[in-house]
Amino acid sequence: MRAVCFSEPGGPEVLKLEEVPDPMPQPDEILVDVRAAGVNRADLLQRRGGYPPPAGASPLLGLEIAGVVAAVGERVETLQVGDRVMALLPGGGYAQKVTLPVGLALPIPSNLSFEEAAAIPEAWITAFSNLVLLGNLTAQMDVLIHAGGSGVGTAAIQIVREFGARAHVTAGSSAKLDACQQLGARTCINYHEGPFAPKVLEATGGKGAEIILDFVGAPYWEQNVSCAATDGKIFLIGTMGGAVAEQVNLGLLLNKRLSIIGTSLRSRPLAIKVDFVQAFGQWALPRFASGALHPVLDQIFDWEKVADAHRRMENNQNFGKIVLRIS
Ligand SMILES: NC(=O)c1ccc[n+]([C@@H]2O[C@H](COP(=O)([O-])OP(=O)(O)OC[C@H]3O[C@@H](n4cnc5c(N)ncnc54)[C@H](OP(=O)(O)O)[C@@H]3O)[C@@H](O)[C@H]2O)c1
Repeated sequence: MRAVCFSEPGGPEVLKLEEVPDPMPQPDEILVDVRAAGVNRADLLQRRGGYPPPAGASPLLGLEIAGVVAAVGERVETLQVGDRVMALLPGGGYAQKVTLPVGLALPIPSNLSFEEAAAIPEAWITAFSNLVLLGNLTAQMDVLIHAGGSGVGTAAIQIVREFGARAHVTAGSSAKLDACQQLGARTCINYHEGPFAPKVLEATGGKGAEIILDFVGAPYWEQNVSCAATDGKIFLIGTMGGAVAEQVNLGLLLNKRLSIIGTSLRSRPLAIKVDFVQAFGQWALPRFASGALHPVLDQIFDWEKVADAHRRMENNQNFGKIVLRIS
């Protein structure tokens, strides 16, 4: 089969399509003919040599795919050859074929294309697991979502809206903020136009946000703490702005009884990921089928243009997901 490979870490130009051996499914695995693969920030980091795949995972890039089941292992009973599936992966998605434990796959609702389906697993299960499974999201909550125009952010806004809770978002341009508002965000804050914390406090009547999804890290630490509600939870999901916070006032954490929760989906044990995938599927698949939720597609690239797809993400140009069409 062909796959996107790189022999040395570097910029987008190191990515090349090459012949590699076909993967073989284990007894509890399925083999999928990949039609589309989602692009994630983690892929850019891995390409630069900063995010090695977990032990046992494919060294190839790609954390999510959509395609058609081509073979099933002898113990697989829930899916059949020919089924359309989308799946979360620890790696290996930028390829014509991939094997994965059957529990990481979900059926694709018939109204979604392969490209739309490939935009779902990583971003939506990240947002759902943090907001709902770990954050116990309820309709009474105010939620602050940073990088509202990111793949994860555009999923999180819709999940918060669907629960009847209120999403407040930050992003770096008025175009992205307008699009976040269309998705259901109540307060849209341009982080280039001053601090976000006072605006979140104002929007929540001084109470603050019960849940904060943060991908930015160090530069947002103090403001996140100051606009978190008492008993609030701050989920640290990425460190795009830096990982070392210089000023940490532990007294504020104590006074507000805050929880700071670092989460990483890719490195979790398989059994937990399967639980997340299946819980998400139960809640989300009927809502995708009815059109209540929809994956936000920024742009589809033929996989021959994978370097351009990475450049677009690296330049922060995407609103929603970038997807590769695999042929
Ligand atoms: N922990 C996990 O399990 C997990 C899983 C999936 C993703 N993630 C993380 O979640 C984040 C979003 O991933 P994604 O694939 O959805 O990203 P994405 O679609 O590439 O969007 C990222 C956006 O973040 C904004 N941004 C970038 N650098 C920033 C900075 N220094 N300060 C403020 N905003 C910045 C940019 O939008 P603006 O134009 O608004 O600046 C950019 O377009 C990444 O950090 C990723 O590593 C974590």
